[in-house]
Amino acid sequence: MQGALRKLREEHRSISAVLSALRQVAHLAQDAKLRPDFAALGAMVYYIDTFPERLHHPKEDEHLFARVLQRAPEAAPLVRRLQAEHLEGMQRVRDLERTLLALEQTWPQGAAAFAVTVDDYAEFHLRHMRCEEQELLPLAERTLAAEDWAAIEAAFAANDDPLAGVGEREYRRLFQRIAERAPAPVGLGAPWKAA
Ligand SMILES: [Fe+2]
Ligand SMILES: [Fe+2]
Repeated sequence: MQGALRKLREEHRSISAVLSALRQVAHLAQDAKLRPDFAALGAMVYYIDTFPERLHHPKEDEHLFARVLQRAPEAAPLVRRLQAEHLEGMQRVRDLERTLLALEQTWPQGAAAFAVTVDDYAEFHLRHMRCEEQELLPLAERTLAAEDWAAIEAAFAANDDPLAGVGEREYRRLFQRIAERAPAPVGLGAPWKAA
Protein backbone atom coordinates (compact mmCIF):
# COMPACT_ATOMS: atom_id res chain seq x y z
CA MET A 1 0.00 0.00 0.00
CA GLN A 2 1.18 3.54 -0.74
CA GLY A 3 2.72 5.38 2.24
CA ALA A 4 0.26 8.25 1.83
CA LEU A 5 -2.71 5.88 2.06
CA ARG A 6 -1.20 4.18 5.10
CA LYS A 7 -0.85 7.59 6.75
CA LEU A 8 -4.48 8.53 6.07
CA ARG A 9 -5.65 5.19 7.44
CA GLU A 10 -3.49 5.66 10.57
CA GLU A 11 -5.01 9.10 11.07
CA HIS A 12 -8.48 7.55 10.79
CA ARG A 13 -7.48 5.07 13.53
CA SER A 14 -6.40 7.94 15.83
CA ILE A 15 -9.61 9.90 15.20
CA SER A 16 -11.78 6.84 15.79
CA ALA A 17 -9.91 6.02 19.05
CA VAL A 18 -10.65 9.50 20.40
CA LEU A 19 -14.27 9.32 19.18
CA SER A 20 -14.68 6.01 20.98
CA ALA A 21 -13.19 7.42 24.21
CA LEU A 22 -15.39 10.53 23.97
CA ARG A 23 -18.50 8.37 23.53
CA GLN A 24 -17.67 6.31 26.60
CA VAL A 25 -16.83 9.36 28.70
CA ALA A 26 -20.03 11.14 27.58
CA HIS A 27 -21.89 8.06 28.79
CA LEU A 28 -20.08 8.20 32.19
CA ALA A 29 -20.98 11.89 32.50
CA GLN A 30 -24.63 10.89 32.88
CA ASP A 31 -23.88 9.52 36.36
CA ALA A 32 -24.88 12.42 38.62
CA LYS A 33 -22.77 10.99 41.47
CA LEU A 34 -19.42 11.59 39.72
CA ARG A 35 -18.36 15.04 38.60
CA PRO A 36 -16.92 14.84 35.06
CA ASP A 37 -13.43 16.12 34.34
CA PHE A 38 -14.50 18.82 31.88
CA ALA A 39 -10.90 19.60 30.90
CA ALA A 40 -10.49 15.99 29.70
CA LEU A 41 -13.76 16.19 27.75
CA GLY A 42 -12.62 19.52 26.28
CA ALA A 43 -9.28 18.01 25.17
CA MET A 44 -11.11 15.23 23.31
CA VAL A 45 -13.46 17.65 21.57
CA TYR A 46 -10.50 19.91 20.73
CA TYR A 47 -8.71 16.92 19.17
CA ILE A 48 -11.60 15.82 16.98
CA ASP A 49 -12.17 19.44 15.99
CA THR A 50 -8.65 20.49 15.06
CA PHE A 51 -6.84 17.29 14.03
CA PRO A 52 -9.08 16.70 11.00
CA GLU A 53 -9.27 20.40 10.16
CA ARG A 54 -5.56 21.18 10.41
CA LEU A 55 -3.83 17.94 9.52
CA HIS A 56 -6.12 15.39 7.96
CA HIS A 57 -8.61 17.11 5.65
CA PRO A 58 -6.03 19.33 3.89
CA LYS A 59 -4.20 16.14 2.88
CA GLU A 60 -7.40 14.75 1.42
CA ASP A 61 -9.01 17.84 -0.14
CA GLU A 62 -5.98 19.61 -1.56
CA HIS A 63 -3.86 16.67 -2.60
CA LEU A 64 -5.44 13.22 -2.79
CA PHE A 65 -8.95 14.23 -3.89
CA ALA A 66 -7.59 16.75 -6.40
CA ARG A 67 -5.44 14.09 -8.08
CA VAL A 68 -8.24 11.52 -8.06
CA LEU A 69 -10.47 14.05 -9.85
CA GLN A 70 -7.83 14.55 -12.54
CA ARG A 71 -7.32 10.83 -13.14
CA ALA A 72 -10.88 9.64 -12.60
CA PRO A 73 -13.39 12.42 -13.42
CA GLU A 74 -16.21 9.90 -12.96
CA ALA A 75 -15.39 9.99 -9.21
CA ALA A 76 -16.59 13.63 -9.01
CA PRO A 77 -19.91 12.86 -7.24
CA LEU A 78 -18.10 10.78 -4.57
CA VAL A 79 -15.38 13.40 -4.06
CA ARG A 80 -17.92 16.25 -3.86
CA ARG A 81 -19.91 14.32 -1.28
CA LEU A 82 -16.82 13.69 0.89
CA GLN A 83 -15.79 17.36 0.61
CA ALA A 84 -19.30 18.46 1.61
CA GLU A 85 -19.03 16.14 4.63
CA HIS A 86 -15.78 17.86 5.65
CA LEU A 87 -17.68 21.16 5.79
CA GLU A 88 -20.66 19.56 7.53
CA GLY A 89 -18.29 18.01 10.08
CA MET A 90 -16.87 21.43 10.96
CA GLN A 91 -20.39 22.71 11.64
CA ARG A 92 -21.32 19.64 13.67
CA VAL A 93 -18.20 19.91 15.81
CA ARG A 94 -19.09 23.54 16.62
CA ASP A 95 -22.45 22.25 17.94
CA LEU A 96 -20.56 19.68 19.98
CA GLU A 97 -18.35 22.40 21.52
CA ARG A 98 -21.38 24.55 22.33
CA THR A 99 -23.19 21.61 23.93
CA LEU A 100 -20.13 20.80 26.05
CA LEU A 101 -19.75 24.41 27.23
CA ALA A 102 -23.43 24.48 28.18
CA LEU A 103 -23.10 21.12 29.96
CA GLU A 104 -20.31 22.45 32.16
CA GLN A 105 -22.75 25.09 33.48
CA THR A 106 -25.79 22.85 33.91
CA TRP A 107 -24.39 19.36 34.68
CA PRO A 108 -25.87 16.87 35.54
CA GLN A 109 -28.69 18.40 33.52
CA GLY A 110 -27.97 18.16 29.82
CA ALA A 111 -25.71 15.11 30.17
CA ALA A 112 -28.10 12.80 28.30
CA ALA A 113 -28.49 15.34 25.46
CA PHE A 114 -24.71 15.71 25.28
CA ALA A 115 -24.27 11.93 24.98
CA VAL A 116 -26.79 11.87 22.10
CA THR A 117 -24.94 14.73 20.34
CA VAL A 118 -21.63 12.86 20.76
CA ASP A 119 -23.13 9.60 19.43
CA ASP A 120 -24.62 11.39 16.39
CA TYR A 121 -21.32 13.10 15.66
CA ALA A 122 -19.28 9.90 16.09
CA GLU A 123 -21.61 7.94 13.79
CA PHE A 124 -21.45 10.69 11.18
CA HIS A 125 -17.64 10.80 11.27
CA LEU A 126 -17.19 7.02 11.30
CA ARG A 127 -19.52 6.71 8.29
CA HIS A 128 -17.42 9.33 6.49
CA MET A 129 -14.12 7.57 7.21
CA ARG A 130 -15.58 4.18 6.23
CA CYS A 131 -16.69 5.59 2.87
CA GLU A 132 -13.19 6.96 2.29
CA GLU A 133 -11.56 3.66 3.21
CA GLN A 134 -13.95 1.48 1.24
CA GLU A 135 -14.49 3.65 -1.84
CA LEU A 136 -12.11 6.58 -2.26
CA LEU A 137 -8.79 5.13 -1.12
CA PRO A 138 -9.12 1.93 -3.22
CA LEU A 139 -10.11 4.07 -6.22
CA ALA A 140 -6.99 6.23 -5.68
CA GLU A 141 -4.87 3.11 -5.47
CA ARG A 142 -6.25 1.89 -8.80
CA THR A 143 -6.09 5.14 -10.74
CA LEU A 144 -3.17 7.30 -9.58
CA ALA A 145 0.24 7.09 -11.26
CA ALA A 146 3.68 6.98 -9.62
CA GLU A 147 4.17 10.71 -10.26
CA ASP A 148 0.90 11.46 -8.43
CA TRP A 149 2.03 9.49 -5.40
CA ALA A 150 5.42 11.25 -5.37
CA ALA A 151 3.69 14.66 -5.43
CA ILE A 152 1.22 13.59 -2.72
CA GLU A 153 3.99 12.29 -0.44
CA ALA A 154 5.90 15.58 -0.85
CA ALA A 155 2.77 17.61 -0.11
CA PHE A 156 1.96 15.51 2.98
CA ALA A 157 5.49 16.11 4.32
CA ALA A 158 5.15 19.87 3.74
CA ASN A 159 1.75 19.89 5.48
CA ASP A 160 3.36 18.66 8.70
CA ASP A 161 4.62 21.97 10.08
CA PRO A 162 5.88 21.73 13.65
CA LEU A 163 6.93 25.40 13.64
CA ALA A 164 3.33 26.46 13.09
CA GLY A 165 2.31 24.25 16.02
CA VAL A 166 0.23 21.98 13.80
CA GLY A 167 2.70 19.13 13.43
CA GLU A 168 1.97 15.46 13.89
CA ARG A 169 4.14 15.41 16.98
CA GLU A 170 1.88 17.92 18.76
CA TYR A 171 -1.16 15.82 18.03
CA ARG A 172 0.60 12.65 19.17
CA ARG A 173 1.33 14.41 22.48
CA LEU A 174 -2.26 15.57 22.77
CA PHE A 175 -3.44 12.01 22.03
CA GLN A 176 -1.22 10.73 24.87
CA ARG A 177 -2.53 13.38 27.26
CA ILE A 178 -6.09 12.35 26.41
CA ALA A 179 -5.30 8.69 27.14
CA GLU A 180 -3.56 9.61 30.41
CA ARG A 181 -6.37 11.89 31.55
CA ALA A 182 -9.45 9.88 30.50
CA PRO A 183 -10.85 8.22 33.61
CA ALA A 184 -10.46 4.49 34.11
CA PRO A 185 -11.72 2.22 32.60
CA VAL A 186 -11.80 4.37 29.42
CA GLY A 187 -8.22 5.60 29.82
CA LEU A 188 -5.38 5.62 32.32
CA GLY A 189 -6.59 8.59 34.41
CA ALA A 190 -7.97 8.55 37.95
CA PRO A 191 -11.68 7.78 38.27
CA TRP A 192 -13.88 10.88 38.58
CA LYS A 193 -14.51 12.16 42.10
CA ALA A 194 -17.84 12.09 43.89
CA ALA A 195 -19.90 15.21 43.10
FE1 LIG B 1 -12.33 12.98 4.98
FE1 LIG C 1 -10.26 10.93 6.06
